[in-house]
Amino acid sequence: MELIHRPRRLRRTDALRRMCRETRMSPDSLIYPIFIDETLSGVRPIPSLPGQNHYGLDSVNQAVEECLAHGVTHCMLFGLPGAKDACGSSAWAEKGVIQQAVRAIKSAHPDFYVITDVCLCEYTDHGHCGILHGHEVDNDETLDVLAKVAVSHGLAGADMVAPSDMMDGHVAALRQALDGAGFRHIPIMAYSAKYASAFYGPFRAAAGSAPSFGDRRGYQMDPHNRKEALRECALDAEEGADILMVKPALSYLDVIRECADAFDQPMCAYSVSGEYAMIKAAAAAGLVDERRVMCESAVAVFRAGADMLITYFAKELADAIRQGEIG
Ligand code: PBG
Repeated sequence: MELIHRPRRLRRTDALRRMCRETRMSPDSLIYPIFIDETLSGVRPIPSLPGQNHYGLDSVNQAVEECLAHGVTHCMLFGLPGAKDACGSSAWAEKGVIQQAVRAIKSAHPDFYVITDVCLCEYTDHGHCGILHGHEVDNDETLDVLAKVAVSHGLAGADMVAPSDMMDGHVAALRQALDGAGFRHIPIMAYSAKYASAFYGPFRAAAGSAPSFGDRRGYQMDPHNRKEALRECALDAEEGADILMVKPALSYLDVIRECADAFDQPMCAYSVSGEYAMIKAAAAAGLVDERRVMCESAVAVFRAGADMLITYFAKELADAIRQGEIG
């Protein structure tokens, strides 16, 4: 057979395949979510997320050291406060759970990069991401509160803030407040295209943040929409977002690709709790090879255009990259 083009030539050996790869990954682009429970001392496994833990304030640096042992140097912090109220006031308390955790991490590991999730759902007694008027979240009143939360994280020493509330104007509100407080250098990673997703289920069980009534469809995006994601990214970019994010990841690869192509800000993707839990459950049932499915899923997100990935598999992925299984 006289074939000019034989794509298989470049697939023959591992060395060749590795040289020709189009998608490159690095542990530097992985961000690991850490849950800190103000009421806990020590470490407690999270039932909805097999292999993940809640850490007490006395154990946050254990979580950090576990990351460092795998070469993971970036985290995203989520807090479970000791007390909740209607306006989520524990979210901006000087001695709130996140503020204490950031101080503890930064004093022991100043170079470990700490991103804080800025939202109210873990701190409100109704579980919504903002201030309620009746059964609706009031956008502009919520912005004032989110701005206070972001500044309190800055005061504690957070390296970056990540608003996940999906309020209109949230990046502008945070940027103005951070700049006013002298934190011009703190970047904002905006959860720009965050969908109202059933894939957040295990996280809400872990963070105790499920809404007590209704759902989040009044502020998070409708999964049917694609152009709206571009609009949300454009608004966040105009408001000064330094990094844009699409969330969840695996069911929204098309959105990641389009947003990555359309904007010049770095693009983050969040491989959410349900994505992790499904792989864990399928592997526990003997249905799939956990390691390979984990790797293939992460490669897909980067191939789609993400520059960085928030994932509960960060430590295992860093190992897989180092060991040459991917990347
Ligand atoms: C807070 C927040 C959520 C997640 C990240 N930040 C939950 C939600 O919006 O209900 C989900 C993360 C995950 O599922 O892993 N608003």
